[in-house]
Amino acid sequence: MTLKATTKKAFFITGTDTNVGKTLVAAGLLVAAKNKGLTTAALKPVAAGCEKTDEGLRNSDALLLQSVITQPLAYEQINPYALEAAIAPHIAAQQEKRSLSVDRLSGFCRGVLSSADFTLLEGAGGWRVPLNARETLADLAKNLQLPVIIVVGVRLGCINHALLTFEAIVRDGLPVAGWVANCVDPDMPVLQENIDSLRARLPIPCLGVVPFLADQSPAVVANYFDETEVQKIFE
Ligand SMILES: Nc1ncnc2c1ncn2[C@@H]1O[C@H](COP(=O)(O)OP(=O)(O)OP(=O)(O)O)[C@@H](O)[C@H]1O
Ligand SMILES: [Mg+2]
Repeated sequence: MTLKATTKKAFFITGTDTNVGKTLVAAGLLVAAKNKGLTTAALKPVAAGCEKTDEGLRNSDALLLQSVITQPLAYEQINPYALEAAIAPHIAAQQEKRSLSVDRLSGFCRGVLSSADFTLLEGAGGWRVPLNARETLADLAKNLQLPVIIVVGVRLGCINHALLTFEAIVRDGLPVAGWVANCVDPDMPVLQENIDSLRARLPIPCLGVVPFLADQSPAVVANYFDETEVQKIFE
């Protein structure tokens, strides 16, 4: 079924940690939205870990997001702060003499946030990642008043990380639209019991369970979302 979007929807994608599948899940959600006939856009406002190219610094997350969206956004619109070192963003910014602030980042993000029916903004690492001495990426989500989607990298320790992340977002006053179980550990013992434990304790919809995938293409990930639940975030 093709959806006709009546309002523009945008979400902040956070995760239980770095490397839990935020980018892959975000790309899968963007493909699922495009398959429903929605226009899509994406942001990775701060990326630490970039390659030097003839066009400038490029980050693989931002490039993947750029490759799946429908809107023809320039790289710099998707990723205004490309930092070379793959280290904590506030330290990378300090080393590279860049100044990160919620105020400036919000300005960059606002333009893109109104450009498509469905937009995802990927954070960096987890919820409380510093931008500078005072602010964190959570402050950017708050400033933009974005509802949040939590990607849970299902591995040992994830229940604690998921509950702490959920509690922190609620304490920050933002709605949590749902969570995605992303099975990043191919050898996870009692996998189903862990997912059931998360479902029982997170009082928000589970938008999908993505298994460990040999083919990690966004189009494949798009098949693993709960049709009914994602429809609610698209509409
Ligand atoms: N379901 C999955 N099955 C197999 N591999 C996966 C799965 N999800 C993610 N991966 C792999 O795990 C790695 C981390 O994924 P991804 O880059 O999406 O994480 P991230 O949370 O966005 O990381 P970062 O904090 O750096 O932004 C990638 O190599 C990705 O291909
Ligand atoms: Mg990422």
